[in-house]
Amino acid sequence: MNILIVGAGGFIGSHLCERILEKYGDWNITAVDISSEKIDHLLHSKNFSFYKIDVLRNYNQLEEHIKNCDVVFPLAAIANPLIYVQDPLRVFELDFESNLRIVKSSVKYEKRIIFPSTSEVYGMCSDSEFEEDSSNCVTGPICKQRWIYSCSKQMLDRVIYAHGIRDGLRYTLFRPFNWIGPRLDDIRNENNGSSRVVTQFLSNILHGKNISLVDGGSQIRCFTYISDGIDALIKIIENDNADKQIFNIGNPRNQCSIKELAKKILDFAQKYDTLREKVQKIQIVNTNSAEYYGKSYQDVQRRISSIRRAEDILGWKPMVDMDELLTRTMDFYFI
Ligand code: UGA
Repeated sequence: MNILIVGAGGFIGSHLCERILEKYGDWNITAVDISSEKIDHLLHSKNFSFYKIDVLRNYNQLEEHIKNCDVVFPLAAIANPLIYVQDPLRVFELDFESNLRIVKSSVKYEKRIIFPSTSEVYGMCSDSEFEEDSSNCVTGPICKQRWIYSCSKQMLDRVIYAHGIRDGLRYTLFRPFNWIGPRLDDIRNENNGSSRVVTQFLSNILHGKNISLVDGGSQIRCFTYISDGIDALIKIIENDNADKQIFNIGNPRNQCSIKELAKKILDFAQKYDTLREKVQKIQIVNTNSAEYYGKSYQDVQRRISSIRRAEDILGWKPMVDMDELLTRTMDFYFI
Protein backbone atom coordinates (compact mmCIF):
# COMPACT_ATOMS: atom_id res chain seq x y z
CA MET A 1 0.00 0.00 0.00
CA ASN A 2 1.28 3.46 -0.92
CA ILE A 3 0.27 6.10 1.59
CA LEU A 4 0.72 9.80 0.89
CA ILE A 5 0.87 11.92 4.04
CA VAL A 6 0.70 15.65 3.38
CA GLY A 7 1.79 17.44 6.55
CA ALA A 8 3.83 14.41 7.63
CA GLY A 9 6.05 16.69 9.70
CA GLY A 10 3.22 17.81 11.95
CA PHE A 11 1.99 16.38 15.23
CA ILE A 12 -0.45 13.79 13.87
CA GLY A 13 1.58 13.16 10.70
CA SER A 14 4.80 12.41 12.54
CA HIS A 15 3.12 9.90 14.85
CA LEU A 16 1.29 8.26 11.96
CA CYS A 17 4.56 7.85 10.01
CA GLU A 18 6.31 6.40 13.06
CA ARG A 19 3.58 3.84 13.69
CA ILE A 20 3.33 2.71 10.06
CA LEU A 21 7.09 2.25 9.80
CA GLU A 22 7.22 0.31 13.08
CA LYS A 23 4.37 -2.06 12.32
CA TYR A 24 3.77 -2.28 8.59
CA GLY A 25 6.99 -3.18 6.81
CA ASP A 26 5.34 -3.52 3.40
CA TRP A 27 3.55 -0.14 3.34
CA ASN A 28 5.30 2.72 1.55
CA ILE A 29 5.05 6.23 2.88
CA THR A 30 5.45 9.34 0.76
CA ALA A 31 5.83 12.13 3.29
CA VAL A 32 5.34 15.75 2.25
CA ASP A 33 5.92 18.82 4.38
CA ILE A 34 7.68 22.18 4.48
CA SER A 35 9.77 20.97 7.43
CA SER A 36 11.11 17.59 8.51
CA GLU A 37 12.11 18.60 12.04
CA LYS A 38 9.66 16.23 13.76
CA ILE A 39 10.48 13.33 11.43
CA ASP A 40 14.24 13.72 11.05
CA HIS A 41 14.66 10.41 12.90
CA LEU A 42 12.66 8.64 10.16
CA LEU A 43 14.32 10.08 7.06
CA HIS A 44 16.57 7.08 6.43
CA SER A 45 13.92 4.43 7.07
CA LYS A 46 13.11 1.80 4.49
CA ASN A 47 9.90 2.46 2.53
CA PHE A 48 9.93 6.14 3.51
CA SER A 49 10.48 9.07 1.14
CA PHE A 50 10.35 12.67 2.25
CA TYR A 51 9.64 15.56 -0.15
CA LYS A 52 9.95 19.15 0.95
CA ILE A 53 7.02 20.79 -0.84
CA ASP A 54 5.07 23.92 0.01
CA VAL A 55 1.61 22.85 -1.11
CA LEU A 56 0.41 26.45 -1.35
CA ARG A 57 3.11 27.32 -3.90
CA ASN A 58 3.98 24.06 -5.65
CA TYR A 59 0.78 22.14 -5.99
CA ASN A 60 1.87 20.52 -9.25
CA GLN A 61 4.62 18.65 -7.43
CA LEU A 62 2.12 17.34 -4.92
CA GLU A 63 -0.31 16.30 -7.64
CA GLU A 64 2.30 13.88 -9.07
CA HIS A 65 2.43 12.13 -5.69
CA ILE A 66 -1.36 11.95 -5.50
CA LYS A 67 -1.40 10.17 -8.87
CA ASN A 68 0.98 7.52 -7.51
CA CYS A 69 -0.61 6.78 -4.13
CA ASP A 70 -3.42 4.51 -2.96
CA VAL A 71 -4.55 6.65 -0.06
CA VAL A 72 -3.96 10.28 0.82
CA PHE A 73 -3.99 11.92 4.26
CA PRO A 74 -4.16 15.74 3.85
CA LEU A 75 -2.91 16.63 7.34
CA ALA A 76 -1.31 20.01 6.62
CA ALA A 77 -3.33 22.61 8.51
CA ILE A 78 -3.16 25.37 11.08
CA ALA A 79 -4.90 24.18 14.25
CA ASN A 80 -4.18 26.90 16.78
CA PRO A 81 -7.06 29.13 17.97
CA LEU A 82 -4.89 32.25 18.33
CA ILE A 83 -4.06 32.08 14.62
CA TYR A 84 -7.76 31.67 13.73
CA VAL A 85 -8.38 35.11 15.25
CA GLN A 86 -5.12 36.82 14.29
CA ASP A 87 -4.65 35.55 10.75
CA PRO A 88 -7.93 34.02 9.57
CA LEU A 89 -7.10 34.27 5.88
CA ARG A 90 -3.95 32.22 6.34
CA VAL A 91 -6.11 29.55 7.96
CA PHE A 92 -8.55 29.73 5.03
CA GLU A 93 -5.76 29.48 2.42
CA LEU A 94 -4.04 26.48 3.96
CA ASP A 95 -6.84 24.64 5.72
CA PHE A 96 -9.49 25.23 3.06
CA GLU A 97 -8.06 26.24 -0.32
CA SER A 98 -5.05 23.95 -0.48
CA ASN A 99 -6.97 20.99 0.91
CA LEU A 100 -9.80 21.57 -1.57
CA ARG A 101 -7.28 21.01 -4.37
CA ILE A 102 -6.25 17.72 -2.80
CA VAL A 103 -9.89 16.67 -2.54
CA LYS A 104 -10.45 17.50 -6.23
CA SER A 105 -7.33 15.57 -7.26
CA SER A 106 -8.51 12.60 -5.19
CA VAL A 107 -11.76 12.64 -7.13
CA LYS A 108 -9.97 13.06 -10.46
CA TYR A 109 -7.48 10.24 -9.90
CA GLU A 110 -9.95 8.04 -7.96
CA LYS A 111 -7.88 7.92 -4.78
CA ARG A 112 -9.04 7.11 -1.29
CA ILE A 113 -8.90 10.15 1.01
CA ILE A 114 -8.76 10.03 4.82
CA PHE A 115 -9.45 13.58 5.86
CA PRO A 116 -8.93 15.27 9.24
CA SER A 117 -12.15 17.03 10.05
CA THR A 118 -12.23 18.42 13.59
CA SER A 119 -14.19 18.52 16.83
CA GLU A 120 -14.46 22.25 16.06
CA VAL A 121 -17.06 21.64 13.33
CA TYR A 122 -19.63 21.21 16.10
CA GLY A 123 -18.77 24.73 17.25
CA MET A 124 -20.96 25.80 20.16
CA CYS A 125 -23.33 22.84 19.87
CA SER A 126 -25.09 22.34 23.21
CA ASP A 127 -25.48 18.55 23.02
CA SER A 128 -24.03 16.74 26.02
CA GLU A 129 -22.13 14.49 23.61
CA PHE A 130 -21.51 15.30 19.97
CA GLU A 131 -22.81 12.74 17.48
CA GLU A 132 -21.59 12.59 13.89
CA ASP A 133 -25.00 12.43 12.20
CA SER A 134 -27.30 14.25 14.59
CA SER A 135 -25.42 17.09 16.31
CA ASN A 136 -25.67 20.54 14.78
CA CYS A 137 -22.68 22.55 13.64
CA VAL A 138 -23.13 25.86 15.50
CA THR A 139 -20.88 28.82 14.82
CA GLY A 140 -21.16 32.48 15.83
CA PRO A 141 -21.41 35.79 13.95
CA ILE A 142 -18.89 36.72 11.25
CA CYS A 143 -17.09 39.14 13.59
CA LYS A 144 -16.15 36.12 15.71
CA GLN A 145 -13.33 35.10 13.41
CA ARG A 146 -12.42 32.10 15.55
CA TRP A 147 -14.96 30.09 13.58
CA ILE A 148 -13.14 30.38 10.25
CA TYR A 149 -11.33 27.15 11.06
CA SER A 150 -14.55 25.37 11.95
CA CYS A 151 -16.29 26.66 8.80
CA SER A 152 -13.34 25.80 6.55
CA LYS A 153 -13.28 22.24 7.82
CA GLN A 154 -17.06 21.94 7.78
CA MET A 155 -17.23 23.07 4.15
CA LEU A 156 -14.59 20.51 3.17
CA ASP A 157 -16.52 17.81 5.03
CA ARG A 158 -19.58 18.76 3.00
CA VAL A 159 -17.68 18.83 -0.30
CA ILE A 160 -16.08 15.45 0.37
CA TYR A 161 -19.41 13.97 1.41
CA ALA A 162 -21.07 15.27 -1.77
CA HIS A 163 -18.28 13.83 -3.95
CA GLY A 164 -18.82 10.51 -2.19
CA ILE A 165 -22.43 10.52 -3.32
CA ARG A 166 -22.00 12.00 -6.79
CA ASP A 167 -18.65 10.53 -7.86
CA GLY A 168 -18.21 7.54 -5.60
CA LEU A 169 -15.19 9.14 -3.88
CA ARG A 170 -13.80 6.76 -1.26
CA TYR A 171 -13.42 8.87 1.86
CA THR A 172 -13.32 8.74 5.63
CA LEU A 173 -13.65 11.88 7.79
CA PHE A 174 -12.13 11.65 11.26
CA ARG A 175 -12.66 14.25 13.96
CA PRO A 176 -9.91 14.51 16.58
CA PHE A 177 -11.03 15.74 20.00
CA ASN A 178 -8.06 17.48 21.67
CA TRP A 179 -5.36 14.96 20.80
CA ILE A 180 -2.36 15.41 23.09
CA GLY A 181 1.13 13.95 23.26
CA PRO A 182 4.81 14.36 22.47
CA ARG A 183 5.61 16.87 19.70
CA LEU A 184 2.20 18.59 19.96
CA ASP A 185 3.60 22.15 20.03
CA ASP A 186 6.96 23.79 20.60
CA ILE A 187 6.92 24.77 24.26
CA ARG A 188 10.10 26.83 23.88
CA ASN A 189 7.89 29.60 22.45
CA GLU A 190 7.01 31.76 25.45
CA ASN A 191 4.10 33.73 24.04
CA ASN A 192 0.62 33.18 25.40
CA GLY A 193 -1.56 31.49 22.79
CA SER A 194 1.34 30.09 20.77
CA SER A 195 0.32 26.55 21.81
CA ARG A 196 -2.82 24.65 22.55
CA VAL A 197 -3.85 24.45 26.17
CA VAL A 198 -1.80 21.50 27.52
CA THR A 199 1.42 22.56 25.84
CA GLN A 200 0.67 26.20 26.70
CA PHE A 201 0.58 25.29 30.39
CA LEU A 202 3.80 23.27 30.02
CA SER A 203 5.43 26.23 28.32
CA ASN A 204 4.32 28.54 31.15
CA ILE A 205 5.88 26.18 33.68
CA LEU A 206 9.10 25.88 31.69
CA HIS A 207 9.43 29.67 31.62
CA GLY A 208 8.28 30.18 35.21
CA LYS A 209 5.19 32.15 34.13
CA ASN A 210 1.75 32.18 35.70
CA ILE A 211 -0.93 29.98 34.15
CA SER A 212 -3.90 31.86 32.69
CA LEU A 213 -7.44 30.54 32.94
CA VAL A 214 -9.39 32.12 30.13
CA ASP A 215 -12.90 33.16 31.20
CA GLY A 216 -12.72 31.17 34.42
CA GLY A 217 -11.49 27.82 33.13
CA SER A 218 -14.80 25.99 33.50
CA GLN A 219 -14.65 25.01 29.81
CA ILE A 220 -14.61 21.23 29.40
CA ARG A 221 -12.68 19.23 26.84
CA CYS A 222 -12.08 15.48 26.50
CA PHE A 223 -8.38 14.93 25.99
CA THR A 224 -7.19 12.04 23.85
CA TYR A 225 -3.73 10.54 23.83
CA ILE A 226 -2.05 10.56 20.42
CA SER A 227 -1.38 6.80 20.37
CA ASP A 228 -5.12 6.16 20.78
CA GLY A 229 -5.78 8.53 17.89
CA ILE A 230 -3.21 6.74 15.72
CA ASP A 231 -4.77 3.35 16.62
CA ALA A 232 -8.02 4.69 15.17
CA LEU A 233 -6.32 5.91 11.99
CA ILE A 234 -4.69 2.52 11.43
CA LYS A 235 -8.05 0.82 11.85
CA ILE A 236 -9.53 3.25 9.33
CA ILE A 237 -6.79 2.45 6.79
CA GLU A 238 -7.25 -1.29 7.27
CA ASN A 239 -11.01 -1.44 7.37
CA ASP A 240 -13.15 -1.14 4.22
CA ASN A 241 -16.17 -0.50 6.46
CA ALA A 242 -14.63 2.89 7.25
CA ASP A 243 -15.48 4.07 3.73
CA LYS A 244 -17.97 6.94 3.50
CA GLN A 245 -18.05 7.31 7.26
CA ILE A 246 -17.44 10.12 9.72
CA PHE A 247 -15.82 9.20 13.04
CA ASN A 248 -15.38 11.23 16.20
CA ILE A 249 -12.05 10.17 17.68
CA GLY A 250 -11.99 11.31 21.29
CA ASN A 251 -11.84 10.00 24.82
CA PRO A 252 -15.04 10.93 26.66
CA ARG A 253 -13.71 9.36 29.87
CA ASN A 254 -10.93 11.96 29.92
CA GLN A 255 -13.25 14.93 30.27
CA CYS A 256 -11.68 17.63 32.33
CA SER A 257 -12.23 21.35 32.92
CA ILE A 258 -9.37 23.68 32.07
CA LYS A 259 -9.15 24.65 35.75
CA GLU A 260 -8.76 21.00 36.81
CA LEU A 261 -6.23 20.57 34.03
CA ALA A 262 -4.14 23.50 35.30
CA LYS A 263 -4.12 22.09 38.85
CA LYS A 264 -3.21 18.60 37.67
CA ILE A 265 -0.35 19.85 35.49
CA LEU A 266 1.09 21.97 38.29
CA ASP A 267 0.82 19.02 40.64
CA PHE A 268 2.47 16.62 38.18
CA ALA A 269 5.24 19.13 37.46
CA GLN A 270 6.50 18.72 41.04
CA LYS A 271 7.81 15.28 40.01
CA TYR A 272 10.48 16.78 37.77
CA ASP A 273 13.67 17.96 39.49
CA THR A 274 14.20 20.76 36.98
CA LEU A 275 10.71 22.21 37.57
CA ARG A 276 10.10 21.79 41.31
CA GLU A 277 11.44 25.17 42.32
CA LYS A 278 9.77 27.06 39.48
CA VAL A 279 6.39 25.48 40.22
CA GLN A 280 6.34 26.92 43.76
CA LYS A 281 6.25 30.43 42.33
CA ILE A 282 3.64 29.83 39.63
CA GLN A 283 0.08 30.92 40.24
CA ILE A 284 -3.13 30.17 38.41
CA VAL A 285 -4.62 33.52 37.40
CA ASN A 286 -7.88 34.51 35.71
CA THR A 287 -8.03 36.42 32.48
CA ASN A 288 -10.74 37.15 29.96
CA SER A 289 -10.80 35.92 26.40
CA ALA A 290 -10.82 39.41 24.82
CA GLU A 291 -7.57 40.15 26.60
CA TYR A 292 -5.99 36.77 25.93
CA TYR A 293 -7.09 36.08 22.35
CA GLY A 294 -8.75 39.31 21.18
CA LYS A 295 -12.33 40.34 20.59
CA SER A 296 -13.00 38.00 17.70
CA TYR A 297 -12.58 34.90 19.86
CA GLN A 298 -15.56 32.87 21.01
CA ASP A 299 -15.52 29.52 22.73
CA VAL A 300 -17.44 26.33 23.31
CA GLN A 301 -18.06 25.56 26.98
CA ARG A 302 -18.35 21.81 26.78
CA ARG A 303 -16.97 19.59 24.05
CA ILE A 304 -17.43 15.86 24.57
CA SER A 305 -17.39 13.26 21.82
CA SER A 306 -19.68 10.35 21.39
CA ILE A 307 -17.47 7.55 20.09
CA ARG A 308 -20.12 4.89 19.66
CA ARG A 309 -19.66 4.80 15.90
CA ALA A 310 -15.89 4.28 16.05
CA GLU A 311 -16.39 1.59 18.68
CA ASP A 312 -19.04 -0.23 16.63
CA ILE A 313 -17.57 0.02 13.13
CA LEU A 314 -13.84 0.10 13.80
CA GLY A 315 -13.74 -1.88 17.03
CA TRP A 316 -11.68 0.99 18.47
CA LYS A 317 -11.49 2.13 22.09
CA PRO A 318 -9.20 4.75 23.62
CA MET A 319 -6.98 3.22 26.31
CA VAL A 320 -4.88 6.01 27.86
CA ASP A 321 -6.45 7.79 30.83
CA MET A 322 -5.93 11.44 31.74
CA ASP A 323 -3.13 10.95 34.28
CA GLU A 324 -1.20 8.64 32.00
CA LEU A 325 -1.70 11.02 29.06
CA LEU A 326 -0.23 13.91 31.05
CA THR A 327 2.61 11.81 32.45
CA ARG A 328 3.70 10.55 29.04
CA THR A 329 3.44 14.02 27.50
CA MET A 330 5.32 15.71 30.34
CA ASP A 331 8.01 13.03 30.35
CA PHE A 332 8.62 13.80 26.68
CA TYR A 333 9.01 17.52 27.29
CA PHE A 334 10.83 17.47 30.63
CA ILE A 335 13.02 14.35 30.82
C1 UGA B 1 -8.64 23.09 19.65
C2 UGA B 1 -7.98 23.62 18.41
O1 UGA B 1 -8.87 24.34 17.61
C3 UGA B 1 -7.45 22.51 17.57
O2 UGA B 1 -6.25 22.02 18.10
C4 UGA B 1 -8.39 21.36 17.34
O3 UGA B 1 -9.02 21.43 16.11
C5 UGA B 1 -9.41 21.15 18.39
O4 UGA B 1 -9.52 22.04 19.42
C6 UGA B 1 -9.23 19.76 18.98
O5 UGA B 1 -8.11 19.35 19.19
O6 UGA B 1 -10.23 19.11 19.27
P1 UGA B 1 -9.52 24.32 21.76
O7 UGA B 1 -9.78 23.05 22.50
O8 UGA B 1 -10.46 25.43 22.05
O9 UGA B 1 -9.48 24.10 20.20
O10 UGA B 1 -8.03 24.85 21.97
P2 UGA B 1 -7.01 24.96 23.16
O11 UGA B 1 -6.05 26.02 22.75
O12 UGA B 1 -6.43 23.65 23.50
O13 UGA B 1 -7.86 25.55 24.39
C7 UGA B 1 -8.70 24.77 25.20
C8 UGA B 1 -9.36 25.66 26.22
O14 UGA B 1 -8.38 26.16 27.13
C9 UGA B 1 -10.06 26.90 25.66
O15 UGA B 1 -11.29 27.07 26.33
C10 UGA B 1 -9.13 28.05 25.98
O16 UGA B 1 -9.77 29.28 26.13
C11 UGA B 1 -8.49 27.56 27.27
N1 UGA B 1 -7.13 28.09 27.53
C12 UGA B 1 -6.15 28.00 26.60
C13 UGA B 1 -6.85 28.68 28.78
O17 UGA B 1 -7.74 28.77 29.67
N2 UGA B 1 -5.59 29.15 29.02
C14 UGA B 1 -4.60 29.08 28.10
O18 UGA B 1 -3.47 29.56 28.40
C15 UGA B 1 -4.89 28.48 26.86
